[in-house]
Amino acid sequence: MSKAIQNEGYLFKQVYDYVMHRIERKEWNEHDKLPSVRQLAADMNVHRLTVLKAYKLLKQDGKVYVKDKSGYYVQTSMKENNDFENIQYVSANVQKKHLSDINQVPVSYHFSQALIDPNLLPNHYFSDYVKKVFDLYPKVLATYSTVQGDEELRESLTHYFINQYKTHLHADDLLITSGSQQAIHLLSQAFIKPRDTVLFERPSYSAAIDIFRAQGANIITVDIHPDGYDLEQVESYMKRYKPRLFYLNPTFHNPTGYTVPADQRKKLVELAEQYRCLLIEDDAYHDIYFKETPPPPIYTYDTVGTVIYIRSFCKYISPGLRIATVICHSSVLKSLLSMKSLADNGSPLLNQKIFLHYFSSLRMQQHLEKLRIALQIRKEIMEEELAATNWQWTSPHGGLNLWIKLPDHFSSELLLTKSIQQSISFVPGQLCDPLNQLSSWIRLSYSYVNEKQLREGVRRFVDVAGCLSPPESC
Ligand SMILES: Cc1ncc(COP(=O)(O)O)c(C=O)c1O
Repeated sequence: MSKAIQNEGYLFKQVYDYVMHRIERKEWNEHDKLPSVRQLAADMNVHRLTVLKAYKLLKQDGKVYVKDKSGYYVQTSMKENNDFENIQYVSANVQKKHLSDINQVPVSYHFSQALIDPNLLPNHYFSDYVKKVFDLYPKVLATYSTVQGDEELRESLTHYFINQYKTHLHADDLLITSGSQQAIHLLSQAFIKPRDTVLFERPSYSAAIDIFRAQGANIITVDIHPDGYDLEQVESYMKRYKPRLFYLNPTFHNPTGYTVPADQRKKLVELAEQYRCLLIEDDAYHDIYFKETPPPPIYTYDTVGTVIYIRSFCKYISPGLRIATVICHSSVLKSLLSMKSLADNGSPLLNQKIFLHYFSSLRMQQHLEKLRIALQIRKEIMEEELAATNWQWTSPHGGLNLWIKLPDHFSSELLLTKSIQQSISFVPGQLCDPLNQLSSWIRLSYSYVNEKQLREGVRRFVDVAGCLSPPESC
């Protein structure tokens, strides 16, 4: 083959890849017009025939289509695969309404916030620790943290995890992130390309759904029940769809509060190893139990590096410090570190040091013990006030939310509109559903408002819902 022909072949492939890259990155979306042949040839400094050849092949491969005399357009990305019962692919579009939109509405009764009442958090102790940190590290604000996170903090967390779960762990296996939200985001960037398949629990944490959708993932759902998953279903999906990863929140799951039992955890790791599917275990609520400690995290059953474990400490220590840690295999860590350095070059050192000194104190344990009692009382108040309804839920043993099934005729979106008029917010089920359905389900958080407001607010809320059932009654 002559050099000129080889070169031409190489250039045309470059044009092809360039267009695909921009489509995959969602810079050019479905039905967007591609640049004209003349334009792209000029932009890329190649012959027009080279661009034309690339466009023709893109068309042949079903990536673009032609409109008469008008040019080339981006093709719809996915052909629906309907040959497998109960499977629904979800498009890569980000949901229109976000949880953060609801949380920003100024209301008196915030049942949408899966956050702990600031009055229950150890605010006044933090000023002591801020002082202590500046005494110990006078230059703490004059320097970056390492990208991986403060070594002293990673050492301390390593000892904590070893004490808790008796597993082998080294401080080098940990990455400190700015909250678990950032960890999920970094993981999606590191491991997901547009159209990669991922497994998700249904329902699931709504921001995680948005993050993976924004990355262009095709989400396949596995229902989560009070007693865990249908593992046969999980296996059949792993086998058939070869998902890149399974994002799960198996302990006091958000939004349901369910906990996956220990025997399923072990089996899940075996399946994930067998089908080479990463498990992302998001464990933001592990310590927020009412009586019995939950089963050990799934990562403790992992021996080969299949599980990526994310533990956030934001909820019950300080959402504002934004401290979470990821425990993972060195190969995963390598990718995460490069994403983390691009994102922020390391979490703020001051926050890490304040957290470190509080976390390793006796006060932390005392705080958690009191907090568990306070949250259990709030959960019981909410349940008492809801007892008069015919709504259904499984009482959780930990976490911050009730996941409630309203009678079928309810539209949680309509109920939300009416509730906000009465200064009450909650999360409609659709936002927690990767399939954007579950419209007669709602998530009510009992953790954010105080006991008095909780009673008042839930009473009001039940009244608002009563007015929608039947529609004419109010
Ligand atoms: C399951 C789950 N993961 C992650 C997060 C984000 O928490 P963080 O404050 O650690 O970013 C939340 C917050 O609601 C959550 O419920």
